[in-house]
Amino acid sequence: MKTASVYVSTILIGLASGLVAQGETPQAPAVYIIPRPVHLEARPGSFTLTQEMPIAVEKGLTDGLRVGRYLADAIGRSTGLTWKVIELGSGNPVPAGVLLTTQAARPELGNEGYVLEVTPAGIVLRATGAKGLFRGVQTVLQLLPPAVLAQSKADGAAPPWAVPCVRIEDKPRFGWRGLMVDTSRHFFTKQELLDFIDVMALHKMSTLHWHINDDQGWRLEIRKYPKLTEIGAWRDGIGFDLDPKCSTAYDEKGRYGGFYTQADVKEIVQYAADRFITVVPEIEMPGHCVASLQAYPELACDDPPSTAEGQGERPPKVAYCPGKESTFQILQDILDEVIPLFPSEIVHIGGDECNKDAWRVCPHCQARMKAENLKNEEELQSYFIRRIEKHLNAKGRRLMGWSEIRQGGIAPNAMLMDWIGGGLESARSGHDVVMSPTTHCYLDYHQALHGEFRLVGPYLPLHKVYTFEPIPAGLEPQFTKHILGVQGNLWAESIANYPRLQYQAYPRACAIAEIGWSPAEGRDWMDFQSRLQAHAARLTARGVNYRPLDTVMPVGTWKPDQMSEQFKVLEWDVTPFVREARKYAFEFIFEEGACRLDIEWAALFENDKEISRDAHPGTATRGPRDIEYVLTLEKHDPDAKYILRASVRSDGGTDSRGTVWMR
Ligand code: ACM
Ligand code: ZN
Repeated sequence: MKTASVYVSTILIGLASGLVAQGETPQAPAVYIIPRPVHLEARPGSFTLTQEMPIAVEKGLTDGLRVGRYLADAIGRSTGLTWKVIELGSGNPVPAGVLLTTQAARPELGNEGYVLEVTPAGIVLRATGAKGLFRGVQTVLQLLPPAVLAQSKADGAAPPWAVPCVRIEDKPRFGWRGLMVDTSRHFFTKQELLDFIDVMALHKMSTLHWHINDDQGWRLEIRKYPKLTEIGAWRDGIGFDLDPKCSTAYDEKGRYGGFYTQADVKEIVQYAADRFITVVPEIEMPGHCVASLQAYPELACDDPPSTAEGQGERPPKVAYCPGKESTFQILQDILDEVIPLFPSEIVHIGGDECNKDAWRVCPHCQARMKAENLKNEEELQSYFIRRIEKHLNAKGRRLMGWSEIRQGGIAPNAMLMDWIGGGLESARSGHDVVMSPTTHCYLDYHQALHGEFRLVGPYLPLHKVYTFEPIPAGLEPQFTKHILGVQGNLWAESIANYPRLQYQAYPRACAIAEIGWSPAEGRDWMDFQSRLQAHAARLTARGVNYRPLDTVMPVGTWKPDQMSEQFKVLEWDVTPFVREARKYAFEFIFEEGACRLDIEWAALFENDKEISRDAHPGTATRGPRDIEYVLTLEKHDPDAKYILRASVRSDGGTDSRGTVWMR
């Protein structure tokens, strides 16, 4: 993130023009693309689509016609233009329209990179293959008026379907640009998942991580074990203290739930593949599996043997029993049905938050630990995951798991999904890692301090998500290649229907997309915010129920060298930001460090005279409390200097960093 002073000029331009555009010149119109392209040169003029145009695709290009038809369908749906997709042999004259080709493509842009040139004569997209062309097609769609994204032709006057002239060279920073959906806590229909994938494609996302099953529902048809869905896919009510009316996922008996047939899964996976999105299935084990234990109780541990004192402790049965051979047989059978449904090389097996209490008293588990010389239940978990990994590896697949699969020793070839740490250490030891920390990537958390629906988790606004850097601080350059990318997670405990899923995802998924795609050097909140204002019209046209945008700006930071364990006053010059008489809300967003920031009061000073104070205790930490300070400026003096002061201290040391934002 840039510091406040660097923002000042950007903000002033932004306020004057309304928006800050990328590549804008006096002659060329504004262009606002998300994620931000690597290199964009806006040029004068435009290319206007007309009825008769062809999309010419290089003859013989694998999947080229499919990408051409995708573009023709996308444009045709909203505009009514019925474009033909034709194959073009080498040496044939290029008709005016759109050309998709590998000719003169730039291999250094990789298989998702592309070069897009729009001139008054037409659109030429070059890439090394269909995947890059598809990503480039998303840029073309964003260059058109937002209404092009409507899912049907609007009545009334259409805008001129013009594409501004540009030259764009683009490629992603990371290969894994993902979102995770949880279909267990609440059920989303096949059609909703297809729509979700479509909107991911617009943002050049590459990976849908499908958290199919969990304690509250098993949602995948497994033919060998039909009770998994007959029993495990249904529960008595919607649960989570939610209004039953906020979902329609009920069967004829009124039970809540649902599941995906294998045919549904194939359709979803193919739909994603057609958009060059890989669906990575997550089959949770050894914990988070209560729904399947209800269907097949033999998968759980056995009770401890009775003693002279009677029946001993009986911990809850919420995990698979790694002591029984039959557990591995059943789980491997299940994986053997999962694997053919998902071409993804990677199979996620969860591995998080496993309650191991039953293992501690289960005779099978204890016998296994003895036989395998395992010192504790963490090593028993590691034994379990290594066995599953061996099975997956033998089928040509790689195992991925959450942070906790490091407990007791990470399996030799495992990939880590970092949600509570371990990414740095795993990358250093040669394991591939996807970064999805709770601090920045949990999109089910609250995105506003006021007026939000009841959710789980702390405050995680868009502007904090946007500050996320996937390469962990301190990771040596030789290991950064193991950081595959970034992912936003949508746990569904409080997300019971599809509009709510979209609301939680967007616009924060736009930030995830940009973190994953765009170069770190170009990361600029004010520029992103400006582009997002334009992008919001696209989300509206596409029918995405996104959270309305706020305008927020960073006005300063706090750092360890300013910290003390006693309260002291820090100050920030906010003159460039305070430009009119109104209420200003300042929020203190903790970013990293071992210590929280306690805030005693914050006040606004005009030429060193205090004019407004908010004196309530607040704490900026990972789970922040009361971090908003509202200060009022009754009359703005254009010649005055405005200073924000706050009395703050860090707790238990000085290691606290964060940003003060203003709205
Ligand atoms: C997780 O959020 N339990 C991975
Ligand atoms: Zn057991």
